[in-house]
Amino acid sequence: MSSNAKTFTFEEVAKHNTKKDCWIIVNGKVYDVTPFLDDHPGGDEALLSATEKDATTDFEDIGHSESAIEMMHTYYVGEVDTTTLPANLNNKPPPLTQAPAYRNQSSGFVPKTLQYLVPLLILAFAFALQYYGKKNKSNES
Ligand code: HEM
Repeated sequence: MSSNAKTFTFEEVAKHNTKKDCWIIVNGKVYDVTPFLDDHPGGDEALLSATEKDATTDFEDIGHSESAIEMMHTYYVGEVDTTTLPANLNNKPPPLTQAPAYRNQSSGFVPKTLQYLVPLLILAFAFALQYYGKKNKSNES
């Protein structure tokens, strides 16, 4: 069914947004619900407000029955090219707010070296003091 289906761009589908010509998109499929507007239990306004967008969430939020889903086949006209859906414009990766990790590595190198170097220097200083202290004492006696 979907292999022979016509594929529309989002813009093409969005043009059908009136009471006389009403198309909606649910789960990547396009439905011409014009003949169903007056019979829709949820009212024609609900369907009209579902045009010019991906109505999948709207449709699913209602919790449509199995028979409602069955009815959809009657109005199926084709597929929508999902890359043209406006929602996909929001699928960009979030902007980097932090500097990349490798930059932190280089700036962290000096403090890390100091971590080891400072205690070593203190130790060397203590030994030196002890050594010279002993030397002075032995000179005095
Ligand atoms: C081809 C698409 C659609 C078909 C065949 C369809 C069919 C139906 C049917 C049969 C019902 C009665 C309740 C049920 O059996 O679930 C219903 C209710 C309803 N539908 Fe749709 N519908 C469609 C799309 C939509 C869309 C896109 C919306 C957008 C919000 C919508 C909103 C509603 C609302 C608000 C109700 C009333 C729910 C209630 O009062 O409990 N429908 N629809």
